[in-house]
Amino acid sequence: MKFRFAVAVIAASLVSFIGAAYAQAPIVIKFSHVVALDTPKGKAAEFFKKAAEERTKGRVKVEVYPNSSLFKDGEEMEALQLGSVQMLAPSVAKFGPLGVREFEVFDLPYIFDNRDELHKVTMGPVGALLFKKLESKGLIGLAFWDNGFKDMSANKPIRVPADYKGLKMRIQSSKVLGDEMKALGAIPQVMAFSEVYQALQTGVVDGTENPPSNFYTQKMQEVQKYLALTDHGVIEYAVIVNKKFWDGLPADIRTILDGAMKDATKFANDIAQKENDDALEAVKKSGKTEILTLTADQKAAMKKALVVVHKENESRVGKDIIDEVYKETGFKP
Ligand code: LMR
Repeated sequence: MKFRFAVAVIAASLVSFIGAAYAQAPIVIKFSHVVALDTPKGKAAEFFKKAAEERTKGRVKVEVYPNSSLFKDGEEMEALQLGSVQMLAPSVAKFGPLGVREFEVFDLPYIFDNRDELHKVTMGPVGALLFKKLESKGLIGLAFWDNGFKDMSANKPIRVPADYKGLKMRIQSSKVLGDEMKALGAIPQVMAFSEVYQALQTGVVDGTENPPSNFYTQKMQEVQKYLALTDHGVIEYAVIVNKKFWDGLPADIRTILDGAMKDATKFANDIAQKENDDALEAVKKSGKTEILTLTADQKAAMKKALVVVHKENESRVGKDIIDEVYKETGFKP
């Protein structure tokens, strides 16, 4: 009798111990991205991590993997769909391969003149419509995070379209960006972000396009002699999660995470301009890259050469969505 009671007591305490241990295991969110920590996205991801962990009192643990340390471009979307990672914030220029070509509307050259116009799209009906298209891919869009306006770089002075002739230019996996480079007479090369520095160093590519924060934090001033302030497009991010994972969260946790994401989004968009201004100053200070400020005529020549890309991609990206963005931004092709 005594023996059986002891066994029962031990068994009972084991069950409650295992139960307690199991119940307390935090929900883990692996958040993978491809940029450095001291960038708008790098800092916003850390902001989200801190807010999510604090506000859930440790019921959620966010593991941030920056600099392609877990998955690089070309791998991370599939990893998210498979559930090997729970959260990403890829550039909107990387959704074409997923079959959601409408996201490439963001890549149309000069479609945005400033952040206010961009926010009308990201925080308005067009942004919501784009996120809706992700659900059939097993993904949910939570927010859009800003980075900045892109500038062109190369190892020769690039002021007007003719200067780009024959240059091999690295781009993200977007057909619109491919057409953008072709419109300048350059040769586009799709490449993972993590491989760009070395490709520039070895001459596999001659140049590329980045906002100053990515240019500086990837040390591209060491391998690019000129940076032309073209502001010809944007780097914008879509924060996305695996739908099954997100729908499977306890409702109270999801509400807290939504709040943390909302605040991280405000943080990201509030710091983005200054992060890029500071990075441009740092590039200037490095003395390694000459900053080319284009004249009004040179900028007009770039615009004239690049707007053809809009018409070329009308059917592919979707005339409806392009027209909606034109309405929001007042862009006249
Ligand atoms: C790029 O590939 O150039 C960018 O999308 C990287 C990033 O996430 O900012």
